Amino acid sequence: MSDQTITSVSRESRVFRPSAEFQRQANLGSLAAYKRLYAESVNAPEKFWGRQAKELLTWRRPFKKALSWKLPHAKWFVGGQLNVAENCVDRHLGTARENKAAIIFEGEPGDIRTLTYKQLHREVCRFANVLTGLGVGKGDRVAIYMPMVPEAAIGMLACARLGAIHTVIFGGFSSEAIKDRVNDCQAKVILTADGGWRRGKVVELKTNVDRAVGFTPSVQHVVVLKRTGNAVTMTEGRDRWWHELVDAAPVEHRAKGFDSENPLFILYTSGSTGKPKGVLHTSGGYLLGTAITTKYVFDLKETDIYFCTADIGWITGHSYVVYGPLANGATILMYEGAPNQPGPDRFWEMIDRHGATIFYTAPTAIRAFMRWGDEHVKKHSLKSLRLLGSVGEPINPEAWMWYHTLIGKKRCPIVDTWWQTETGAIMVSPLPGVTPTKPGSCTLPFFGVVPKVLDEQGREVPRDSGGKLFLKNPWPSMLRTLWGDDDRFKRQYWSELPGYYFAGDGARIDKDGYLWVVGRIDDVLNVSGHRIGTAEVESAMVSHPAVAEAAVVGRPDELKGQALVVFVITKSGVEPTKELREELRAHVAREIGALARPDDVRFAAGLPKTRSGKIMRRILKEIAAGGEIKGDTTTLEDFSVVSALQAQED
Ligand code: PRX
Repeated sequence: MSDQTITSVSRESRVFRPSAEFQRQANLGSLAAYKRLYAESVNAPEKFWGRQAKELLTWRRPFKKALSWKLPHAKWFVGGQLNVAENCVDRHLGTARENKAAIIFEGEPGDIRTLTYKQLHREVCRFANVLTGLGVGKGDRVAIYMPMVPEAAIGMLACARLGAIHTVIFGGFSSEAIKDRVNDCQAKVILTADGGWRRGKVVELKTNVDRAVGFTPSVQHVVVLKRTGNAVTMTEGRDRWWHELVDAAPVEHRAKGFDSENPLFILYTSGSTGKPKGVLHTSGGYLLGTAITTKYVFDLKETDIYFCTADIGWITGHSYVVYGPLANGATILMYEGAPNQPGPDRFWEMIDRHGATIFYTAPTAIRAFMRWGDEHVKKHSLKSLRLLGSVGEPINPEAWMWYHTLIGKKRCPIVDTWWQTETGAIMVSPLPGVTPTKPGSCTLPFFGVVPKVLDEQGREVPRDSGGKLFLKNPWPSMLRTLWGDDDRFKRQYWSELPGYYFAGDGARIDKDGYLWVVGRIDDVLNVSGHRIGTAEVESAMVSHPAVAEAAVVGRPDELKGQALVVFVITKSGVEPTKELREELRAHVAREIGALARPDDVRFAAGLPKTRSGKIMRRILKEIAAGGEIKGDTTTLEDFSVVSALQAQED
């Protein structure tokens, strides 16, 4: 075997077929129907997407051509004009959805607020007038640094209504991150709040903005929502209260149509090195991609109460809290705070309280629920749930089974959705009621998506062998470029193999054509000439009953190339002993072979994670190698975790 190929060591073989009951009511009712539409979507993409765009979106001016593709630059729905906010809000007025809840909001302290589509429309119109009054127009950039409250979505939709470009900066980021992002896109206005609630404490958002804004000359105004009521400093002339502006703004707003390729938003995502990348998404294609995936992957029905736990600071919050669900006229459940406030059962309590039917979260959260203990789940009925989703990283089979059993009560299909900030919408996922699922696999491509697993020479690797994950054809919700850096866009995504989009992930396709993502290529381990994905080793480790969470990295080793170092968090109540360490090494060797026997198992109280819950293996690598921490740590959630791990080494 070539040393460039990834050796796949996973032995997961369970298959879960959709129930007849779910299948009967599914928006797409059979595998045959999926295959037929999929074939059309890849054989005649312009016809397929043209039809979907007409059916699912409302156009002000019809497009002339579905796609213009000059690799790597795509234009979708050429010549068409639409208004994204109108598609998400206005068009539901005058229908049965007018008085339907668009947003059910629950604040961390327990305050509940519901906005119907009619009310949401009024708020978006008023805020669009506010922004116009502050000089915001088509193409201007507006930064949004807010808690997870309805006004954050209102701010996004008001920008979209004006053809302005929003850039949401996650409320957990520091003033440094605000400064870099605002300067990169030259935002004119920042929308923020006095604070937001997190674990019973106020996160002082306005104070962070104040620290940044002295270094961001492009910013003319800061609009401040009163959420927590803590004292803030308002700078005369620059800072304005949200409620005062809104109270003075007219409720009428006539939306204009904008070009399908008009930019909708920039979302910064951290690269492994260098400054964050400003991923640019545009209007028609992005909205279609999020709308169609919401409809089919979440099997959305008029009566659903849809709960996605992602913050709007991430792409998941953009695509599956705001744009996809609202374009479909869905009811979204939006939550402000931490999942364990006041207790570890906050989500389950909310699901029962509001009758949530669809629940979409991340494997890192699922592992946290597992660690907190089953008793917190068992206190609640969860009987309203009918569908579960997972996103953000490979879900280890252990977590998948727990999710399936404890949360889904073996009744709800799980959609494990693979996609990226750059892809805008879900790319690979089961369709519920249609696709038999295998724990840990994101299964089959969505319409129009052609995933390829290739080796270094661009050859397709045999079934069940690992390689690099590429996407072959353009798709409507693809990123258009990196803001202000088209060269980096080409280098980063389109130069690994000419003609293909490089996702940066390692993967394999099994004999049934199912895709298994094994982790980021940058994290791939190289042991004695075998390249192994991090996900597989970690998932073997987590399948041991004493382990709550694990992260594996390579440490340079003269003999093997890399030695495997696994950082392990044990379940509560488990003593981290020397014997357990040996047992865990043996367990991994038993599960996936001696090749992957960890050289070192280190017990840890916490792992360095990004704010979105991804393990920062780069930092663990540096700790494992005993070196200092270099590079950017601004996206790190909690630096004390790193200090604790380093202290352990001394
Ligand atoms: O490595 C893959 C992993 O997350 C990366 C994209 O991260 P981000 O842009 O932050 O977007 C996260 C939300 C879409 C991917 O390259 N990833 C995401 N979903 C999955 C996944 N890995 C395996 N299975 C998934 N379902």
